[in-house]
Amino acid sequence: MTEQKVVLSGMRSTGRIHLGNYFGALKNWVELQDRYRCFYFAADWHALTSDYADPSQIAGNTLEMVTDWLAAGLDPEKAVIFVQSMVPDHAELHLLLSMMAPLGWLERVPTYKEQMQQLETKDLSTYGFLGYPLLQTVDIIIYRAHFVPVGEDQSSHLEISRELVRRFHFLYGTEVFPEPQILLTPTPKVPGLDGRKMSKSYGNAIGLSDTPDEIRAKCKQMFTDPERLLRKDPGRPEVCNLFQFHKLMSPPEVQERVEHQCRAAEIGCVDDKKLLAQMIIDYLEPMRRRRAELDPDTVYDILLAGSQKARERTAETLDLVRGALGLDYRKALERAKAAAKVTA
Ligand code: TRP
Repeated sequence: MTEQKVVLSGMRSTGRIHLGNYFGALKNWVELQDRYRCFYFAADWHALTSDYADPSQIAGNTLEMVTDWLAAGLDPEKAVIFVQSMVPDHAELHLLLSMMAPLGWLERVPTYKEQMQQLETKDLSTYGFLGYPLLQTVDIIIYRAHFVPVGEDQSSHLEISRELVRRFHFLYGTEVFPEPQILLTPTPKVPGLDGRKMSKSYGNAIGLSDTPDEIRAKCKQMFTDPERLLRKDPGRPEVCNLFQFHKLMSPPEVQERVEHQCRAAEIGCVDDKKLLAQMIIDYLEPMRRRRAELDPDTVYDILLAGSQKARERTAETLDLVRGALGLDYRKALERAKAAAKVTA
């Protein structure tokens, strides 16, 4: 049997998941777990690169985020689900790779300067933040992963990961790692309530764990076709936010009916908001049910067991790496003893 290809992906520990995260990544992760050997993890150290001054929320955010993953259908029987900091081997490989990672490569990653300017309330001129893509590279290659399902925004990080793999092989003369390939998640950007990209920091998100009442209240605030002022004006589903959501979450017959009735001004925006709220509530129902069966202890145990499994894989990789670097002390000892015998 040929070995199954390895998929790895992670999310920074930011807490509860919203529909943008779900359609942008998580839904795809759930589908991949049936086809590949999958490793999915909470990147709590990556959260620390920007939240080091107040790390108090990170661990709690990890637990909430992973609860949503499980509710959404990630299955610990199929995929290895773990926390970065529970697998300290990531730190050792990060140190070893840091020796050969050219500063210029890290400084030139486009997200580096962008983020430093955008998150101006945080001082990101740190050693750790510069190493963000290096740590991400380690997260991937320590599992000898072939595929990394992420959004377009991560492509510069994947590029540097491949370059570092090539540099490692060139310097040490052994091929330890596959060159990881990006698996672009085929999803449209999910709009937020206000039509901008859905994002926790914009306060325009719908969470997977929102209650039906919260979903109804949020749908009421949604922006619709700005040119549809009166109930009798025909609407334009193609520019309406609500319709974007229908396309993602409503059954096809509902989509067709809404599209027709909106253009014909047979339903108004208020009617459509009510209908959409119900569609979202129905869509999230299985997740609500699964979440009701999860308690924090169960989530924690899943993470402990997953991290243990992850460490089996990382230990193998570190053996290979230490070997490539000549830092294998058993071998060195044998050689020293053999040399001593010859001279004796
Ligand atoms: N940088 C990724 C993000 O912000 C999170 C991440 C950390 C990651 N390590 C990773 C993603 C390894 C894929 C593989 O979304």
